[in-house]
Amino acid sequence: MNLPDLKEAKIRTKKEIKIIRDDYKVPHDMKTIGKNKKYYLKTYGCQMNVHDSENIKAILEDMSFSEAMEMEDADIILLNTCAIRENAHNKMFGFLGRVKHLKHSKPDVICGICGCMAQEESVVDDIKSKYRWVDIVFGTHNIHKLPEILKESIDNKKQEIEVYSIEGDVYEGIPIKRDSKYKAWVNIQYGCDKFCTYCIVPYTRGKQRSRMPVDIINEVKDLVNNGYKEVTLLGQNVNAYGKDLNINYTMSDLLEETAKTGIERIRFVTSHPWDFDDKMIDIIAKYDNIMPYIHLPLQSGSDRILKLMGRRYTKEKYLELFNKIKKNIPNCSITTDIIVAFPGETIEDFNDTLDVVNTCKFDSAFTFIYSPRIGTPAAKMKNDLTIEEKNDRLYKLNEVVNKYANEANQKYMGKIVKVLIEAPSEKSGKLMGYTDTMKLVNVEASEEYLGKIVDVEITDVKTWSLDGKLID
Ligand code: SAH
Ligand code: SF4
Ligand code: F3S
Repeated sequence: MNLPDLKEAKIRTKKEIKIIRDDYKVPHDMKTIGKNKKYYLKTYGCQMNVHDSENIKAILEDMSFSEAMEMEDADIILLNTCAIRENAHNKMFGFLGRVKHLKHSKPDVICGICGCMAQEESVVDDIKSKYRWVDIVFGTHNIHKLPEILKESIDNKKQEIEVYSIEGDVYEGIPIKRDSKYKAWVNIQYGCDKFCTYCIVPYTRGKQRSRMPVDIINEVKDLVNNGYKEVTLLGQNVNAYGKDLNINYTMSDLLEETAKTGIERIRFVTSHPWDFDDKMIDIIAKYDNIMPYIHLPLQSGSDRILKLMGRRYTKEKYLELFNKIKKNIPNCSITTDIIVAFPGETIEDFNDTLDVVNTCKFDSAFTFIYSPRIGTPAAKMKNDLTIEEKNDRLYKLNEVVNKYANEANQKYMGKIVKVLIEAPSEKSGKLMGYTDTMKLVNVEASEEYLGKIVDVEITDVKTWSLDGKLID
């Protein structure tokens, strides 16, 4: 049994990262464990987790499990968890309550917890003491070990915990069951070395490890051959891609090589402003298949708070980059993440954030109240703000953010845009997809258009979506 340890996880060694190409195999005696059995997988958190869930599904199906649409029909229930804020924790424990209830009537149901919370020492301690009925726990570095972990739990009928606090290697060749036939997540980098003082990710996901360019490009070429229209290159700060490989190959090289595969649409998340260089801007502007959409987290508009957050840029540097992108990439939409009520944030600091939002007029923004995460430096900083003050700042920020999101969408009224039609919309009779600039559009169209990039005229505009009709 390996247990997570935050102190150990903080240590970044100079040890070379191994690329492991043939570690994943479902041993013969585990191939039929899931015969006539179903799994239910609940995913929380970011695209990283969504993508990991695609691997987990494929592994379970390799073991002959099939997917259940309802938790009640499943023989194994897995929760792929997120640790980013307190409410992510609460959601997971809330769901666990429902699983416990189900276990009363179906005692043989296996319950497993994986993802970022599984990498947290305090969570694993809780599971070991208060949630003895949880059968398996495995971390973000152990996904390929799922068949063995599951088998041991079934054979031994005891809690199995397999979580490494070491930094993890790069595993190639883990099978995948993609959620979409048209757009795909492609990991380019695991982990994060930025250590923003509020953030748990460098501990739950380990040291930054870039995949080799050849593995990424081959994956994209395969996707093109299989009819995929869009790839999103994934990492916690993709602009730092390659820096750990020592092969003199950067994110702009990767973007260019990906563009040359001929895939119709390329996106990438997330960009840390710190590593965004001019060459990247040139490459994005040069290739039509790199989408004019950048998620560029601001976090705060106050230099004092940015420093306390360890973000390593100033308000001025952020604005300089923002303006450079807008100037060089025509029609580029830019979205952001903002945290309010970071420890010590004064009303002046908060006003600085509002000031940047009023200057940039972001296409949209994810906004959060700061949430202390155990083991991070910011969790030890003093925070005198009351809950009312925190909520008030979030409310005020959202008002401004929503105003600009609406304004940005209004500019699309009557325009003709290209949309990749990807799924039926929740609204009956319509399909949904995104513009190159990542605007959600509900389109009146028949299902034959699924997976196609079509011209759409925008007929109505809302704050968070657009309505449109097909242009023949
Ligand atoms: N790697 C990305 C962010 C990943 S986490 C980046 O650096 O931009 C997504 C967002 O969650 C962050 O941008 C931040 O705004 C928010 N976040 C992270 N830790 C948080 C915390 N402790 N409290 C509140 N929000 C947090
Ligand atoms: Fe967290 Fe900062 Fe890394 Fe983003 S860059 S994952 S906010 S530590
Ligand atoms: Fe959450 Fe882990 Fe992503 S903490 S935001 S699922 S990397």
